[in-house]
Amino acid sequence: MTATHPADPRPEREPGRDRAQEELGRLVPVLFGHAAFQQLNAGCRLGLFELLDAGGPLPAAKVAEGLGIPHRSAGVLLLGTTALGLTTAGNGVDGAPGETGTEEGNRLYRNGPPVAAAFREGLWPVLRDIVEFQDRVSYLPAADYAESLATGENTGIRHFPGTTRDLYTRLAGVPGLEELFYRCMHSWSALSNPVLVERTDFTGVRRVLDVGGGDAVNALALARAHPSLRITVLDRAGALEVAERNIREAGLADRVTTAAADIFTDPWPGGHDCALFAHQLVIWSPEQNLGLLRKAYEAVGPGGRALVFNAFSDDDGAGPLYAALDNVYFTTLPFRHSTIYRWGECENWLREAGFGEIRRTTGNGWTPHGVVSGRRPAP
Ligand SMILES: C[S@@+](CC[C@H](N)C(=O)[O-])C[C@H]1O[C@@H](n2cnc3c(N)ncnc32)[C@H](O)[C@@H]1O
Repeated sequence: MTATHPADPRPEREPGRDRAQEELGRLVPVLFGHAAFQQLNAGCRLGLFELLDAGGPLPAAKVAEGLGIPHRSAGVLLLGTTALGLTTAGNGVDGAPGETGTEEGNRLYRNGPPVAAAFREGLWPVLRDIVEFQDRVSYLPAADYAESLATGENTGIRHFPGTTRDLYTRLAGVPGLEELFYRCMHSWSALSNPVLVERTDFTGVRRVLDVGGGDAVNALALARAHPSLRITVLDRAGALEVAERNIREAGLADRVTTAAADIFTDPWPGGHDCALFAHQLVIWSPEQNLGLLRKAYEAVGPGGRALVFNAFSDDDGAGPLYAALDNVYFTTLPFRHSTIYRWGECENWLREAGFGEIRRTTGNGWTPHGVVSGRRPAP
C-alpha cells in the first residue's frame, strides 16, 4: 500500500487531466513490451514455471532456493511475473491472489492462469519452444523493425550470417540454428494446426503435396488423423533431414515421403490431388504467392484442391493483436515481402489462379490461424 503523508496536500481533482493520466497509463505494457517478454523469458530459462507447477505454491525464499538464484533476484522476477499475471501471489494454501498486504515471508506464489492452462492442456513444452524462438530468433532482429519498414527490406536478417536474402537459406550458417528453427517451427505448427487437421474437410483427397513442409509436423499430424492420406513433404534438402528423422520415428514412412526441391524453380513431383501451403504464403510477395498457386493449379489436376494454412489478419485491417505483433517478425526476418496477409487477399489469389469453391475455415484457438481452400474445377 502507498502511504499518503499527512502533510501531503490532497491533489485537486481535474476530470480531464485524470482521464489523460489513465489513457497514458495504457502505454505501460507497450513502452515496456520488451521487458514484459523478458519476464516470461527469464521465468522459462530459469525454470520458474516448472518449479511452481511441480511444487507450488511456494514462498519467494523457496523459489530462490529451487532456482538456485539470489533471494533478491527471485523477488525481482516474481514481481515481474506476478504483475503480468504469469504467476499469482496469495497468503494461503489456496494461494488466493491479490493479497498484496501479506508479509513477504508468508506470501505464496503459484502459476497464473495462462501458464497454468498451458500445463493443464499439455501445451507447456510447445509454449516454452515458442518463447525460445522469440528469444533466440526474433528478439534482436525486432529492433530493426523501423529500418525494415523504412527500406522495405528484412534488415533483421543481418543477425544471421550469409549473403542470401531469405532466412531459410541462412539457417545452415549457424551451428544448431537449423535444429532450433525446425524444433520451434514444429511447436508453432503443433499449437495452431488443429484447424487444418481437425476442421478441414479432406473428403476425396488421396495424395497431398506439402509445399515447404518443413520438418513434416503437419504431414505427420494429417497422416495420423486421416489414415487413407498419403503425403509428400517438399522442401529444401536441409529441412528434409529433420523431416526424414521425424517420419521414421513416427513409423509413418509408408505414407509420408519427402522430395527435395526449390519450390519456385524446380518442377514439383506429380500424382497429387491436393497442394498444402502451411505457413508458406506468409513468407512471399503477392506475385510469388500467385505464382505458387498457379503451379499448384497445374500440379493437382482437375477437381484437385489447394489449402492455405497460416495466421490471417482481419479484412478490416484493424487486428487481431496477434497478427499485428507477429508482423514484426515477418517484417524484419524471413524475406523482404513476408507479412500476415488478410483472408480476402488469399482468397483473391486462389480465384486469380483459377480455383473455385473458395472457402475459409477459422480456428477455435487463441491464435488467428485458419485455412483458405479452393478447388480446381473438374472438366
Ligand atoms: C515457415 S516454415 C513452415 C514449415 C512447415 N510448413 C510448417 O508449417 O511448420 C517455411 C518452410 O518453407 C521452406 N522453404 C523456404 N523457401 C523454400 C524454397 N525456395 N524451396 C523449398 N522450400 C522452401 C523452408 O525450408 C521452411 O521449411
